[in-house]
Amino acid sequence: MNPNDLVAEATSDFAAAATPAQLEDAKAVYLGKAGKVTAMMKGMATLSADEKRVFGAAVNQAKAGIESALTARRDALAEAQLQAQLRAESLDVSLPGRSHAVGGLHPVSRVIERVEAIFGSMGFDVAEGPEIETDWMSFTALNNPENHPARSMQDTFYVDVKDAQGRWLNLRPHTSPMQVRYARAHAARYAREIAAGLTMPEIRVIAPGRTYRVDSDATHSPMFHQCEGLWIGENVSFKDLKVIFTDFIAAFFETSDFDVRFRPSFFPFTEPSAEIDIRFHQGALAGRWLEVAGSGQVHPNVVRNYGLDPERHIGFAFGIGADRFAMLRYGIDDLRLMFEGDLRFLTQFQ
Ligand code: PHE
Repeated sequence: MNPNDLVAEATSDFAAAATPAQLEDAKAVYLGKAGKVTAMMKGMATLSADEKRVFGAAVNQAKAGIESALTARRDALAEAQLQAQLRAESLDVSLPGRSHAVGGLHPVSRVIERVEAIFGSMGFDVAEGPEIETDWMSFTALNNPENHPARSMQDTFYVDVKDAQGRWLNLRPHTSPMQVRYARAHAARYAREIAAGLTMPEIRVIAPGRTYRVDSDATHSPMFHQCEGLWIGENVSFKDLKVIFTDFIAAFFETSDFDVRFRPSFFPFTEPSAEIDIRFHQGALAGRWLEVAGSGQVHPNVVRNYGLDPERHIGFAFGIGADRFAMLRYGIDDLRLMFEGDLRFLTQFQ
């Protein structure tokens, strides 16, 4: 056989191979140990020296031709495979991207952060406590004895679990238990300082958080937010409350154009007690008295339950409705909007 014909034959066989594996099989037919090129070389044994030279050169040339046809086909198959893979994994970079929604703070959270920042600047600590409370913390410690009619001032939610005293746990109807929890949490330190003849450090704390009452209409939600404030020292009085609270309102609403009114009221844990009303002179809320807090000079029985001597440690407490402050600040007229989780409402505050 003419070595040149072998090149054409191999080239067409290689072209017929559709995969790298088929190509390797086709290669073996020509270049393998038992392949056609090898057979031709073996066949030369019977030729004369001159014939060997001529034929051998032709075989070597054919072998080189087959090898280069093989390499060309290998490259072509690899390229085809790469193109197929690129097609399969193609990305349309002109498609619009998928955006992530940006979250934000709830208006009530914003108000609480603002209250914390303002009272923080006046030296108040921030404390948080449990929403499921004992009967003693929510009522008895706050001078609200068992079976006293003042307990029904709040329509409390009770939890179907009893505390160590055998009383139902409750969803705290106000943040006032935090007065007691905070003072008692620091009682050991106060006792040490008093025993050492030092002046006990003043208690200055605010305690924001969720509170619960059986109440639901446009201005009441069964879950709402309060922020308790407490300042106890050797000589802290209603006068200080008025200064602190007026400063707070001015900072919170960014105006000094308002009146503050202390309206006599009743809370078992304060004596005297007052509701705090404010009235703006300008803006959408101008002219109306708005009730914003309950307050009072802490009752001696409550100071005793802090673990302190009411003859030496006196001061005031107040409780503001954080939701109410959000409504006033942002001009929201229905409290329920705040807790429906409707993004059309919530995104307006971002
Ligand atoms: N705890 C009272 C309420 O929920 C508010 C208050 C707090 C009043 C502290 C006086 C002192 O209505």
